[in-house]
Amino acid sequence: MAILARKWFAAVVCSLALPAVADDAVTRIEIDATHPGATINRDIYGQFAEHLGRGIYGGIWVGEDSSIDNIHGFRTDVIKALRKIKVPLVRWPGGCFADEYRWRDGIGPRDKRPVRVNTNWGGVAENNAFGTHEFFQLVDLLGAEAYVNGNLGTGNPREMAEWLEYMTGDSDSAVVQERRKNGRDKPWKVDYFAIGNEAWGCGGNMRPDYYADLYNRFATFLKTPPGAHPHMVASGGTGDNTEWTDVLSRRINHNIDGISFHYYTLPTGEWGDKGNATGFGEKQWISTLWQTLRMETFIRHNEQVLDKNDPDKKLGFYVDEWGTWYNPEQGREPGFLYQQNTLRDAVVAALNFNIFQRHAERVRMTNIAQMVNVLQAMILTDKDKMLLTPTYHVYDMYQVFQDATSLPLEIEHPQSYQLGDTRVPGISASAARGQDGKLYLSLVNLDPREARQVAVDVQGAEVTRARGRLLTAAAMDARNTFDAPEAVEPAGYRASADIGQLTLDLPPKSVLVVSLN
Ligand code: AHR
Repeated sequence: MAILARKWFAAVVCSLALPAVADDAVTRIEIDATHPGATINRDIYGQFAEHLGRGIYGGIWVGEDSSIDNIHGFRTDVIKALRKIKVPLVRWPGGCFADEYRWRDGIGPRDKRPVRVNTNWGGVAENNAFGTHEFFQLVDLLGAEAYVNGNLGTGNPREMAEWLEYMTGDSDSAVVQERRKNGRDKPWKVDYFAIGNEAWGCGGNMRPDYYADLYNRFATFLKTPPGAHPHMVASGGTGDNTEWTDVLSRRINHNIDGISFHYYTLPTGEWGDKGNATGFGEKQWISTLWQTLRMETFIRHNEQVLDKNDPDKKLGFYVDEWGTWYNPEQGREPGFLYQQNTLRDAVVAALNFNIFQRHAERVRMTNIAQMVNVLQAMILTDKDKMLLTPTYHVYDMYQVFQDATSLPLEIEHPQSYQLGDTRVPGISASAARGQDGKLYLSLVNLDPREARQVAVDVQGAEVTRARGRLLTAAAMDARNTFDAPEAVEPAGYRASADIGQLTLDLPPKSVLVVSLN
């Protein structure tokens, strides 16, 4: 009753305080701070680094002899930038690459490591300069957790078991001694370990039942010292197909902590002509947002399957590949998947975060594809130059949600944004109580033309001020370039209540993250 009365009051004062916008044009959000929900696992903001194009070589690793400033071979500029966004987790070495990767190629003296062909990505030479030791150096430098993807497709259980032993073993076995000889005495911590990748496709074109049997077989032999066991990941499905989640959650009977899921946002929804990263019109703006919002339906459908097969919620649903995927840029090697990143990518990232945060109970880990120079990257590099993408800035802004407690919210009178036959919600929102005890709200205005006002009420707290950062730009495809690396950056944002009502102004096509006091 009290809430109803306050809503009525808020509606009245809002129409008085904001004469320029009709009351029915104001979106109302009510956050319930009295019913905290699931913890938003910080691993939701994880990254993916595959041996693909310049994702590793040139982007992260340049080698100790490079003229580019580096820390033991790792680009100093890239490491510094990634540390700033507190990358919680890095998945490596693939992707499709993982199912052809021979881990022994990547250990021992670098000049003796064999050269292979990267058959998945451009057929280029892979000299294995970046291997297991370099990966753990990378996650150490970032202060991140390690997610290693094992080779099921072309490997065998012994090979996989020995890799895990090499990484985590503390005995005097021959495998562990080999690690010591290669310069690492103490075991590393493997936080997640996946058995294969996209088993329905590049990982071996299997049926889910066959993969489930193989998983059970491989998983039997993956042993670690007590307390060192990673979260074990079964490679699941994609898109709106829940069969993989269903079969894997019923047929895999041990050594499993979660099932992965992949979904890429293509503006057109067509792999043959996906749409371009820049120079698109409003039609592809809205279709991209529509395509990315399908993530919520996919998650919901998979959750329903998991709730049936795993009612105790032991299994996580790990979206370990997601992001935008555009046509290759003219003149670039198509197999390198390098693409520009615009304000549209920032909006896509924020929409997905709001979805993951709402489903934090099952969605406990995700990895955007990919960290540097590949697909929806945080960072682009060109020789010694580096730029931070609009997507990077969204990761930066959303740091406050790492390990926060999600809070339910309701959007009243939700308005939509429509173009032709395509309609999406006008506003996306998510709220949480951060680890610092503060209330945080993230908002996205999906409409590229109209500003929106959002009136915020919090059940269980009096809020009169919002402080945070806003990301927007004049053009839908606004981006940072090596000549203008700071064209798209977040700006400070402040709002205060007027006659007891906190109302936030959201410019068109914008992302806002604020703390509420
Ligand atoms: O991220 C690029 C590729 O997309 C990955 O290697 C593969 O798993 C997926 O198909």
